[in-house]
Parts: sequence; C-alpha cells; structure tokens
Amino acid sequence: MELIITKDYKEMSQQAAVLVNAHVIVNPKLVLGLATGNTPIGMYKELIRMNKKGMIDFTNVVTFNLDEYLGLGPKDKESYHYFMFQNLFSGINIKRRNINLLNGLTKDPNGECERYEEAIRKADGIDLQILGIGHNGHIGFNEPSDVFPTATHVVALSEDTRQINSKFFKDKRKMPTGALSVGIGTIMKAKEIILLANTKQKAEAITMAIEGPVRPQVPASVLQLHSKATMILTSQAAEGLGRIFKKSKKFSLLAHKTV
Ligand code: F6R
Repeated sequence: MELIITKDYKEMSQQAAVLVNAHVIVNPKLVLGLATGNTPIGMYKELIRMNKKGMIDFTNVVTFNLDEYLGLGPKDKESYHYFMFQNLFSGINIKRRNINLLNGLTKDPNGECERYEEAIRKADGIDLQILGIGHNGHIGFNEPSDVFPTATHVVALSEDTRQINSKFFKDKRKMPTGALSVGIGTIMKAKEIILLANTKQKAEAITMAIEGPVRPQVPASVLQLHSKATMILTSQAAEGLGRIFKKSKKFSLLAHKTV
C-alpha cells in the first residue's frame, strides 16, 4: 500500500485531483468510483476548477457512486444523488448517461443492488475507486461486521454512523436507518483504489486499517490486500501511525511511503 502524507486538507485534495487527472489522461474512458461525505469535497472542487481550465475532460468518463440512503431520492437535499450534482456533476462536462447512482427510492432494494452490480460488470468494472473512511473504519457503507460483504447490498446503518451522519440532516428524524452500498468485493475488484482521510477523528481508524490485522471489524483493513491501493492522508489523519512513521518528527513536508 502506498501512503502519501500531506500537510493539510488543501494539499490532500490537490494531490488526489492530480492523480484522477493523470488516470483520465491515460484512459479518457475511465470508470471512476466515487464517494460522498465531507472528505472528497475539496478534491471535487479542484476537479471542477481543472475541468473549467480545460485540464481534464470528463466527456467519456463513466462514474459509479458507492452508496445511497434508502428512502431518499434526487430531490432530497441529504441524498447522495443530490450531493453529487451539487458538489461535482453540475460543475463538469460529464454526460448524464455516464453517471451511475443507486436508487434510494427503489421498491425492490435487492433488485436494485443486482441491477447496479450488473451495470458495473457491463462497464468492465471500476478502474479507479475513490474512498473516504468512517470513524469506525467503514468504507462505502460497509460497516464493521463479522464478514466482508462481497457485492452491492442492503445495509442497516450502525448507530455510530447514524449519529455522525445526522449532522447533514436539518431534521435529525429524517436520518435513514438503511442504505444501499457497493460491497467490499466490488471495491476490491477495482484496478486501483485511492482512500482519502483528513481529520484527527479518523486517526484511529487509519492506524487500525494500516497497522492492524485484516478483519471485517475494521472494513478498511482489507485494503492491505489490494495490489494498488494508495492512502492520501493529512498529517492529522496519519498521526497514529507510530510504527511506520516513528522517525518522522513532523509531516509538514509531503511524505511518501510504501508499507
Ligand atoms: C460515502 C461513503 C462513506 C464516507 C465516510 C466518511 O459515500 O462512502 O464511507 O466516505 O463515511 O465520511 P466523511 O467524508 O463525511 O467523513
């Protein structure tokens, strides 16, 4: 696993956007897996800026989002559908037909998961998957569990996640109890993965994911088994990495390590 330690959120976001740009230059038909949440917003802003300057072209890029709340649709401001148009899709030259999102309003959640898996398969899988990480180590909405879920599936959100994510809901009672999420198996089939983390609150999850054993109780730890996974972390998110970075006194410079 590659680790890139950046000094702050801005640098993390720029570094991530530059890597996405490089992938699109190499493969203009890139199949890009995307995450929502606070973490990737800076990267999305940077991608919009680059797109407006003609530095990156999304004409033939295909996207698949990781997850969606059950019961929320495109018009709900808290839905991930709404989030993606607000924070990325409306600002870049991507084609609507190339955007893939899970339908949170489906009457048949299991059927919707199968439809999505099939769409990913038809696109020949994800080339580059962008991930955030939850305080509990979740990736997508793959919550800590006794097994690694494989394909796209219906999820019961953990109390921990519901409490943290309810900050995005004006009316906390609207916070869903369930979601649809791409599974760990599907994420791990991506040819390349980039995970971003920027806050101190993520430091413990990052340490467990990188230095701890691979176990479904820390879903992100599975990334240790991926042959092309990169974590771009701020020094705050990396502060628990004692064993690896013991000798580095500070992270003010960009550090790059293979672990
Ligand atoms: C959202 C997703 C989640 C988030 C994670 C971190 O699509 O996949 O796993 O990446 O909950 O969220 P933030 O970035 O808000 O801390």
